[in-house]
Amino acid sequence: MAKRKRRPQAGPEFMRRTQFKNLGPTGQARREPPPMPELHYRGETIDLPDPTQIETTEIDLRRAIDERKSERVFFDDPITLDALTYLLWATQGIKEFEQGETFRTVPSAGARHAFETYIIANKVEGLDRGLYRYLAMGHKLGIIDQSEEIGDKIANTTLQPELIQTSAATLIWTAVASRMTWRYGDRGYRYIHLDAGHVGQNLYLGTMAVNCRACTSAAFNDDELNRALKLDGVEHFAVYFGSVGK
Ligand SMILES: Cc1cc2nc3c(=O)[nH]c(=O)nc-3n(C[C@H](O)[C@H](O)[C@H](O)COP(=O)(O)O)c2cc1C
Repeated sequence: MAKRKRRPQAGPEFMRRTQFKNLGPTGQARREPPPMPELHYRGETIDLPDPTQIETTEIDLRRAIDERKSERVFFDDPITLDALTYLLWATQGIKEFEQGETFRTVPSAGARHAFETYIIANKVEGLDRGLYRYLAMGHKLGIIDQSEEIGDKIANTTLQPELIQTSAATLIWTAVASRMTWRYGDRGYRYIHLDAGHVGQNLYLGTMAVNCRACTSAAFNDDELNRALKLDGVEHFAVYFGSVGK
């Protein structure tokens, strides 16, 4: 009987092909212009409170680190728009914009910052239920979908829908791959996922300062979530999310 050739395992293959020595020239090396640091948004926007004016709980960093833990069951209480804004700021807020590059509250390989943040607002004071996008450049929200069913539709693309359904708000981080691969080629895919870790940790620690709790997750059906967010799933895809509540 002819021996079937085994398909190489994706993980080791990915690690091998993304070694520096195996990369071809990048967009930057070919002198292509860098992608913009934020996806264009055309539509109605909502101003967010100034992050420097948001009152947070004085919490010692040591205590925040020691007491942080994933919470998966939330009370019905809403969170304030200040709290949501602080968490958006802590996870993707832009502190400086210089020569086309953004410098944010989280680190990112080469300051490439490939993420966009989508927000499912379920119980946020002063914000209608719906799906929004954080426009970090202007520190605003863009309105994506305020239909009644959008929250459930997105929750049902995940393996634990109740996490999103019971949350006051869920932040979904999606990656625009070209922002990272322009400089790093396919190695950029490693960096996107490393960057996501920093974002998640700032969410966890940030919640401690606004008396909320969080649980992050990457357990979703990629195709379904990308489709629900209207992403192509190749150039722009969902990476990670964090649900927040009281
Ligand atoms: C990348 C990543 C994916 C995760 N996915 C899930 C998940 O699908 N479901 C879940 O309940 N928790 C998820 N979590 C939370 C972990 O289960 C949690 O961090 C772990 O159990 C340790 O608990 P602690 O965060 O309270 O220390 C995830 C955490 C990370 C960092």
